[in-house]
Amino acid sequence: LYIGVDLGTSAVKLLLMNAEGKIESVVSKEYPLYFPHPGWSEQKPEDWWNAVVEGLKELTASCDKSQIAGISFGGQMHGMVALDENDEVIRPAILWNDGRTQKQTDYLNNVIGKETLSKYTANIAFAGFTAPKILWMKEEEPENFARTKMIMLPKDYIAFKLSGVYSTDVSDASGMLIFDVKNKCWSKEMLDICGITEEQVPKIFESYETVGTILPEVAKELGFPETVKIVAGAGDNAAAAVGTGTVGDGRCNISLGTSGTIFISSKTFGVDEHNALHSFAHADGYYHLMGCMLSAASCNKWWMDEIIGTKDYAAEQAKIEKLGENHVFFLPYLMGERSPHNNPNARGTFIGMTMDTTRADMTQAVLEGVAFAIRDSFEVAKSLGIKIERTKICGGGAKSPLWKKIIANVLGIKVDVIESEEGPGYGGAMLAAVACGEFASVEEAAEKLVKVIDTIEPDPELVEKYNDRYAKFAKIYPTVKELFD
Ligand code: XUL
Repeated sequence: LYIGVDLGTSAVKLLLMNAEGKIESVVSKEYPLYFPHPGWSEQKPEDWWNAVVEGLKELTASCDKSQIAGISFGGQMHGMVALDENDEVIRPAILWNDGRTQKQTDYLNNVIGKETLSKYTANIAFAGFTAPKILWMKEEEPENFARTKMIMLPKDYIAFKLSGVYSTDVSDASGMLIFDVKNKCWSKEMLDICGITEEQVPKIFESYETVGTILPEVAKELGFPETVKIVAGAGDNAAAAVGTGTVGDGRCNISLGTSGTIFISSKTFGVDEHNALHSFAHADGYYHLMGCMLSAASCNKWWMDEIIGTKDYAAEQAKIEKLGENHVFFLPYLMGERSPHNNPNARGTFIGMTMDTTRADMTQAVLEGVAFAIRDSFEVAKSLGIKIERTKICGGGAKSPLWKKIIANVLGIKVDVIESEEGPGYGGAMLAAVACGEFASVEEAAEKLVKVIDTIEPDPELVEKYNDRYAKFAKIYPTVKELFD
């Protein structure tokens, strides 16, 4: 049996998979997210750990625990976890969607320079990346910075608590901006720029490599065998790509989670010369390009829970009638925006309402706004000569048939629906299975385990209508941008 731990932003989702790839059980445990100032976003690593321990117990309550062979991860990326010399957490983790580091991001992009950053790491600085957070802590919290013995990413903290090993994997390390993506090693220059040393960052593994075995005291508490392997795992998007079979060359996956991403796998290393898409290592041993918008399913959740006050998302979406003809636009920048605008100060906006605008039009605008923002990154990929004719889809938002249809028509591509939407958790379990020798490679595991059960075809008439709507959407941000400065 293999366990995949998807350490998300709203909850940890744990998944138990057998050797044939069948999902035996799934458990989800929520934890709080803190916004101590507008645009800031933090979580407590201790909350993650407690939720993982509780979740693992519940997940395996009725299985034969002696059969558990490996645990691996998909984890929210970029977050900074700082540990002191006793391995205690120094301050709350600063997350991937935190926008406090504008000053440090500007310093990196403008003083160190985008070209230099790209030479060292393959990427430029974005506020959510880890390096600007290290610089922020150095400037704003020098006492915490001085006490920091180890800087880790969220899922790597869980791997550490389980195994006692400081580890990370190539895909997640890619999002720190201190990692040389092409050569898959720490960048000495970037460590220097951040004022830290190689002793303060973990050892790097491929995602499908074993970092250690479970600590005896943890095994005892969970009732697991002491032989359970802890496998490096991946950033949640790379793990989701594995879980949806987006491996090897030229495949695409869209994730509609708290964030929204478009992920393009590639066997060769490449950089987006516009610096809009991230160039990261993949969990299959190769590389990928990725566009990340900061608020995707979270926009829908905000609209439903906070603004109109309903828990019945499906009933609300059932009121939507006319796709492609909505006159309302929504800019989904509730936490600022990463790809392609790179502006932590961007904000959400509704525009185009009239006296006859209905609640359903607004609900539709939110779903469409997210799809248009994903198209922004899709257009960048197209401009690089990348041809995308179909995509997989996963994440909480992928549960909505309407949203999947909107995505297919806004992008004008086929959307392949796979058996399970549990992208990162399933990918994590697959990585554990590869490390334990169940499959020869990640590609082999994907080929054998991932099954497409349905395909949503774009409708040419609707694609045409959405092309017109998108052309207008693309003009809104440049027009209102200066209001956000
Ligand atoms: C990717 C990113 C997000 C988080 C969400 O660059 O920041 O997708 O990984 O968990």
